[in-house]
Amino acid sequence: MAQEVRGVVARAKGEPVQVETIIVPDPGPGEAVVRIQACGVCHTDLHYRDGGINDEFPFLLGHEAAGTVESVGPDVTDVAPGDFVVLNWRAVCGTCRSCKRGRPWYCFATHNASQPMTLADGTPLTPALGIGSFAEKTLVAAGQCTKVDPAASAAAAGLLGCGVMAGLGAALNTGKVQRGDSVAVIGCGGVGNAAVAGARLAGATTIIAVDLDERKLEQARGLGATHTVQAGSADVVQSVQELTGGFGADVVIDAVGRPETYRQAFYARDLAGTVVLVGVPTPEMRLELPLLDVFGRGGSLKSSWYGDCLPERDFPVLIDLYLQGRLDLDAFVSETIGVDGVEEAFEKMHRGDVLRSVVVFP
Ligand SMILES: NC(=O)c1ccc[n+]([C@@H]2O[C@H](COP(=O)([O-])OP(=O)(O)OC[C@H]3O[C@@H](n4cnc5c(N)ncnc54)[C@H](O)[C@@H]3O)[C@@H](O)[C@H]2O)c1
Ligand SMILES: [Zn+2]
Ligand SMILES: [Zn+2]
Repeated sequence: MAQEVRGVVARAKGEPVQVETIIVPDPGPGEAVVRIQACGVCHTDLHYRDGGINDEFPFLLGHEAAGTVESVGPDVTDVAPGDFVVLNWRAVCGTCRSCKRGRPWYCFATHNASQPMTLADGTPLTPALGIGSFAEKTLVAAGQCTKVDPAASAAAAGLLGCGVMAGLGAALNTGKVQRGDSVAVIGCGGVGNAAVAGARLAGATTIIAVDLDERKLEQARGLGATHTVQAGSADVVQSVQELTGGFGADVVIDAVGRPETYRQAFYARDLAGTVVLVGVPTPEMRLELPLLDVFGRGGSLKSSWYGDCLPERDFPVLIDLYLQGRLDLDAFVSETIGVDGVEEAFEKMHRGDVLRSVVVFP
């Protein structure tokens, strides 16, 4: 029997989101219904509401979530009812060219549920990133459910589902930060501060956090930054060079994603260093750099989607590190809110008041 639950829906471009009744079908082959316990509010949800992702309204928002599997389709064996899972938007197919050549984090045929969830009148919903978890229950592909230790707090664990994983992975997977490296992170919101935490986990000895907002720098210090740079008042490139013996950092992570921050990242790295772009630029942005500098400075310029993570490989490990007190995921949970608080949370996010507001379901 399909079920009626409450979920946060964006009906039209730029209009405030609303809590509405949505219909969640029973899981078919390859699918699972998950009872959501917590779901973080991410910039991407706001981009969906504002029509910045695509025009497939109405959207069911939410995608950084943890919960319990309620029921699974007939052929599903990897997860079972009662499992505590973090939802992911990278359920790899195993058969596309990327998967076959051993680079599944670039999979271009990731799985989502095949049946649509709908509004009460039958209008199909587009779930954000194929998840749609600002809802009491959601329907996903079984592969989007990654089992982790149920001792973890759902509010903290769910954040691995998107932004925090993107930041951790930008340092650990894409940037391949090594013990003893110097790392600079430009932009210390949820993503950048997770990159700071990732750099610490990897054993970086100099970790420079850069932001315009002193509150974010304070949080960065708590997560492992050894130095901070106020981007508004200091020259970022010069400051990073001074803090790294005049060289520049081995790895610089741009967690803002603007031409000016990318240029800073490019010049704040040491010769042969690595730049990782994890912040998402907008379509009109253009970058101009002397090609001779791109050549002459060597090293590598990389981008990081979802931290090049593999959920099954990375989520359980990160949750274990969290439970051992070695990765402070709780630090990213600025507040917990009800399902009716998403619109207000967008405003707090906009003002920079929070790393993450997290919707919790009783
Ligand atoms: N690559 C991915 O897979 C992925 C996943 C999730 C989010 N993101 C992207 O990562 C970016 C950051 O996300 P977030 O949730 O941390 O956002 P956020 O708004 O919480 O954080 C951005 C931070 O950058 C700072 N900032 C802005 N301009 C700056 C500048 N010129 N110099 C220094 N600091 C500056 C802000 O003060 C803020 O602290 C966004 O673009 C988001 O879309 C990427
Ligand atoms: Zn694939
Ligand atoms: Zn997200």
